[in-house]
Amino acid sequence: MLLERRIYIKNFFIYMNQERTFIAIKPDGVQRGLISEIIGRFEKKGFKLVALKQLIPTKELAEKHYGIHKERPFFANLVDFISSGPVVAMVWEGPDVILSARKLIGATKPSESEPGTIRGDFAIDIGRNIIHGSDGEDTANFEINLWFDENDLCDWKVSDNQWRIE
Ligand code: RTP
Ligand code: MG
Repeated sequence: MLLERRIYIKNFFIYMNQERTFIAIKPDGVQRGLISEIIGRFEKKGFKLVALKQLIPTKELAEKHYGIHKERPFFANLVDFISSGPVVAMVWEGPDVILSARKLIGATKPSESEPGTIRGDFAIDIGRNIIHGSDGEDTANFEINLWFDENDLCDWKVSDNQWRIE
């Protein structure tokens, strides 16, 4: 979700990519007690939490969420797994948050994700890779609307924003 925000600095208007992205801690991340670790990484990076809920997704929701993969051999397992237990669904906001979040998360295959990333630090198997993040603007819009109602999204100002964003 792109929230183009115009800011005035030194006689110029500049445009910042204030985006929103959908992040989900998968059932393995919840079971392994990694909720606070993961939320902490996004908070410490400086992003703003806009929505948060824990739910056990229905199969229908999991199928819609991963619909792009429906022809892939791992699709049925993936849908079963995502709907097998609690997921922590979130929306985070900030400049270029979609790409930044993917970097915080790390590569899909844990053997290829760098140490320091969430998957690099906590995962060893592609089918148990802890966390999901939207992979682009269109996906982020689709996923935020799929998992949340408009009323769930909390529009608020971070009080020390001048220390995060110029
Ligand atoms: P995600 O959507 O969960 O954030 O993961 P991703 O973008 O890094 O990777 P994607 O290609 O979208 O794959 C979605 C999830 O499917 C599982 N997967 N299993 N067995 C396999 O070969 C395989 N490939 C993908 C992973 O759990 C992956 O996160
Ligand atoms: Mg993906």
